[in-house]
Amino acid sequence: MGVLIIDARPLMPGVLQELVPTSIHENVQNISKLVRQWTDGESLFDGEGEELCVAQIGGKTVGVGGVVKCRDFPGALRVTRFYIHPDFRNRGIGTAIAVRLIENASQFADVVTCNAQASVQAKPFWESMGFIRIEHLGITHTLQIDKTLHI
Ligand SMILES: CC(C)(COP(=O)(O)OP(=O)(O)OC[C@H]1O[C@@H](n2cnc3c(N)ncnc32)[C@H](O)[C@@H]1OP(=O)(O)O)[C@@H](O)C(=O)NCCC(=O)NCCS
Repeated sequence: MGVLIIDARPLMPGVLQELVPTSIHENVQNISKLVRQWTDGESLFDGEGEELCVAQIGGKTVGVGGVVKCRDFPGALRVTRFYIHPDFRNRGIGTAIAVRLIENASQFADVVTCNAQASVQAKPFWESMGFIRIEHLGITHTLQIDKTLHI
């Protein structure tokens, strides 16, 4: 069955219900935080270039990822809240979400940042897409969209 990458915003927060228990179970905080900040109206992914997408297989949500304005790097966008259900990892689903988001982000910024400290998988994942390590408060990697994107 194919993977569908869709805009999550019209379906929030219910579209994440399959991911909340597993993320809590493996002690990844970002999905509960995403749901909480959405419900509070604190982070609605509605700024210029911002987006929130889910990956679905057979109508079931198997992953999520977003792009927001980067507070730590003026003019940049930042990939955030990436989470793929453990049963569906290492199949290119995280990459598929990232490609969709970065393609959209490239219309609004030349630089995309991330903080790859959430898990051991995060660093090789972002580096596989051409993100380069930097020393910067709140940021671990950046991607110069036009120059180094090799996905
Ligand atoms: C990080 C995460 C989003 C990756 O999603 P994914 O769908 O499994 O990633 P992909 O299958 O698209 O992997 C793309 C590349 O990333 C790298 N990668 C991904 N998982 C990896 C791992 N566990 N170890 C080493 N490299 C890894 C590989 O280079 C891989 O390419 P390859 O399969 O050709 O070797 C997923 O592991 C996850 O949800 N982790 C927990 C939450 C988290 O860390 N979120 C990131 C916050 S910044």
